[in-house]
Amino acid sequence: MCGIIGIVGKTPVTDRLIESLKRLEYRGYDSAGVAVQTDGVVDRRRAQGKIKALEAVLDASPLRSQVGIGHTRWATHGAPSERNAHPHTSGRVTLVHNGIIENFAELKAELQKEGRVFESDTDTEVVAALIDHYLDKGQAPLAAFKMALDRLTGAYALAVLIEGRDNFIMGARKGSPLVVGTGEGEMFLGSDALAVGPFTSKVTYLEEGDYVAIDHDGAEIFDVNGMPVERPMKVVSAAAALVEKGNYRHFMEKEIHDQPEGVQRTVSAYIDPITSRTAVPGGIDFAAIERIQIVACGTSYIAGMVGKYLIEQLADLPVDVEIASEFRYRSPALRPGSLAIAMSQSGETADTLAALRLCKSRGMRTAAVVNAQESTMAREVDVVWPIHCGPEIGVASTKAFTAQVTVLTAIAVAAAAARGRIDTAEEERLVKVMLEAPRLVSEAIGMEDAVRAVAVDIAKARDVLYLGRGTMSALALEGALKLKEISYIHAEGYAAGELKHGPIALVDEDTPIIILAPYDSYYEKSASNMSEVMARGGQVVFITDPEGARHAPAGAKVVMTAPASDPLIAPLIMSAPIQLLAYHVAVLKGADVDQPRNLAKSVTVE
Ligand code: AGP
Repeated sequence: MCGIIGIVGKTPVTDRLIESLKRLEYRGYDSAGVAVQTDGVVDRRRAQGKIKALEAVLDASPLRSQVGIGHTRWATHGAPSERNAHPHTSGRVTLVHNGIIENFAELKAELQKEGRVFESDTDTEVVAALIDHYLDKGQAPLAAFKMALDRLTGAYALAVLIEGRDNFIMGARKGSPLVVGTGEGEMFLGSDALAVGPFTSKVTYLEEGDYVAIDHDGAEIFDVNGMPVERPMKVVSAAAALVEKGNYRHFMEKEIHDQPEGVQRTVSAYIDPITSRTAVPGGIDFAAIERIQIVACGTSYIAGMVGKYLIEQLADLPVDVEIASEFRYRSPALRPGSLAIAMSQSGETADTLAALRLCKSRGMRTAAVVNAQESTMAREVDVVWPIHCGPEIGVASTKAFTAQVTVLTAIAVAAAAARGRIDTAEEERLVKVMLEAPRLVSEAIGMEDAVRAVAVDIAKARDVLYLGRGTMSALALEGALKLKEISYIHAEGYAAGELKHGPIALVDEDTPIIILAPYDSYYEKSASNMSEVMARGGQVVFITDPEGARHAPAGAKVVMTAPASDPLIAPLIMSAPIQLLAYHVAVLKGADVDQPRNLAKSVTVE
């Protein structure tokens, strides 16, 4: 997934293009480039590596103009290199692209037959050549653009400069987000509101298939049928403050510490503090729902796993949770009486979006638990259940995870009440438990010094095993995912009861075993698992609560104590130590915490 920006300005744009690209770096950062247009002539600079590499190129060879486009890349077609970096030029066309063109090879062959030569391995360059092909046929820029778009199969967000057309940028979106920003006599295109946030808060979200032309006078938007169309302009508070690190070293560190606030804001949006009852927006009657199907990827999938446990335990409502990339291709048995829930921080993950669309095509009601409330998923479902943790920039999801779990926790309580599984008194009690979560999450973050000390040993490990039972089995998966994705140490999460069915063969004195076990109904079983691994030399880091610490079997390398809580919110509280552990191990290893290798914040390609 990549980030794109375009500016038709009244003042020099190069610095502003770079400022925007820095805000977009979380979407991909293996190469970057800008192109500007002056007196009809287009010039570009590109660099492999992060934005700072591009800045060095521009310092050595500046560009001056009031109109330009920029791009930061997460490679799909063509290895990360300057040659494959965007913007790409073909004839009079220079453009930047986010997405994947699935039929680029056949289009490329067709264009090569007419003698076109390509300099890169990318699908993007083919789009530029196709537009130029139609310009050669005498088509005006917008007509040539639309004719090219109609030939493309796949996903794209595009910003396009045309040699000879000053103060003019074309854009289009299909499968990848693109917004129009309206300034004072200046116009912008960007991958999201954050991209244009420093320049304007007036944002118009293009719809699937829309394309647009911007100049100093404004924007002309056309729908997929080529008809002029108006899209609503919104004022979006993508204030600079929302995406600064403050006094933290990394966005991930800041976002871990932001969790009490994110949980609190999210809880507040799903309960009525006056009545102390749940108040889940969207009007879903959980008494009429036969089954819930959750589809998601990565950490969002793990949040769905936690939701499954809570909703089934409290509401006796069947919940299936499935990895979207598997679900979408396996012809699942779906029933119209079910509710599909897409879990997605970005609301743009390609596999999750496809799985959601499959559910919709089978007549299911659809909902999305998302952070980006104007995302594609949010715009396609019947009901949006927002999380309220603010923009999450670190590639490793933390505050979005706990906010997602918070939403599903509220849904579990609301569904239980709606289905008569709990009475009003119990609902009020559980809502009060949820209201305690922000404070307890904050206390759990207070474990940081103890966690930092443990990180020193974990950073030396080759393999790490995370174990848990119940909702802690999902947290074990999340702890392992966090560690491997930012520190590059191999880690596995397992249901503790599965240990004896294979993973125990991994246990030796060099394998740290992180066991997550609050003092709940699973505790005795988890304590037995702890003894099993210690008997084989395993070095156990036992993360529990005060009561669990009192009952812990002797011999653990470390016992860390999280705040005690009702089991309903234990997943929120136990997230903090596993996130902090991954963070501090990654810092010790000198890893790129916010932008780990090979990853991107939102995977909008398959
Ligand atoms: C989480 O730490 C990962 N970066 C990744 O697994 C992420 O959760 C996944 O790609 C899903 O993204 P989404 O929530 O935006 O759909």
